Amino acid sequence: MSFPVDRPRRLRRTPALRGLVAETRLHPAELVQPLFVREGIKEPRPITCMPGQVQHTRDSLRKAAAAAAQAGVGGLLIFGIPEVKDRDGRGAWDPDGITQQALADVAEEVGDATVVIGDVNLDEFTEHGHVGVLGPDGDVDNDATLLAYADVAVAQADAGAHVVAPSGMMDGQVAAIRAALDGCGHERVPILAYAAKYDSAFYGPFRDAVESRLKGARSTHQQDPANRREALREVLLDVEEGADMVMVKPAGLYLDVVREVADTVHVPVFAYQVSGEYAAIEAAAAQGWLLRERAIRESLTAIRRAGADSVITYWATEVAEQLPR
Ligand code: PBG
Repeated sequence: MSFPVDRPRRLRRTPALRGLVAETRLHPAELVQPLFVREGIKEPRPITCMPGQVQHTRDSLRKAAAAAAQAGVGGLLIFGIPEVKDRDGRGAWDPDGITQQALADVAEEVGDATVVIGDVNLDEFTEHGHVGVLGPDGDVDNDATLLAYADVAVAQADAGAHVVAPSGMMDGQVAAIRAALDGCGHERVPILAYAAKYDSAFYGPFRDAVESRLKGARSTHQQDPANRREALREVLLDVEEGADMVMVKPAGLYLDVVREVADTVHVPVFAYQVSGEYAAIEAAAAQGWLLRERAIRESLTAIRRAGADSVITYWATEVAEQLPR
């Protein structure tokens, strides 16, 4: 019988030893909490497919933002849901639109304690649920949509967003938004680009959360899950256009992409653990099929280990409250 010489188990014997050699650690400051706010409701409304998440009233949104900031969460990503949707998605850039009101509320509430981020898109505001202006063929018209995104980004910055995050996957969206922001005195507002955003089934619960009426698909603009190189092309383009930070989305199913992007660019890399990733763990845990806290921690640690500097996750506040600061 021969006994092993190299014994990796030596470093796993006690929690202190494991802590000493841990390569990845979670910290509240690298977590971003998405929050939903619904125009015209009196009480927060639970989101069925996302147990534990709600559509906030303007008032309850302020409280959730304050609680997240109190827990040390690094950022808040705000999604407004309008009472009325229309063909063009006008509410998205209306200075009195729900997202702008919410951004102003939250910016006032948290001050500089955390970073307030606006999602630049039209999909919550259009009656067809698409991310932009539709052309005669029914597909999203890229360049017409850029003009709208420029207005949305400026409206959000005017309202008090510290960062804007274009999520529509239109070609040239970062350059268009950078130019518009600079032209309106918002040179200091950074852009977090949803750079490599895949056409994923895991956005399903989110579309419920924002009452999306989308019937078509997003496959003419979001990326094919089959492709890795294409993500690098998207990310490098966004950096060239002026993105200050880039994002890979979803996170857990695209850890190879997160790693490759992190090894390639010199800007901060975010990964978005999306609604379907959240719902899958919550649903299994509710059945008793997964240990909830452990599964959540493991999922977040894996995303950080893959190379993400920051993680956007619906569990941000909850996890931040449990972490040492
Ligand atoms: C676009 C947007 C979406 C998500 C974030 N921003 C929806 C989409 O692209 O269809 C999805 C987030 C999630 O699933 O958690 N406004």
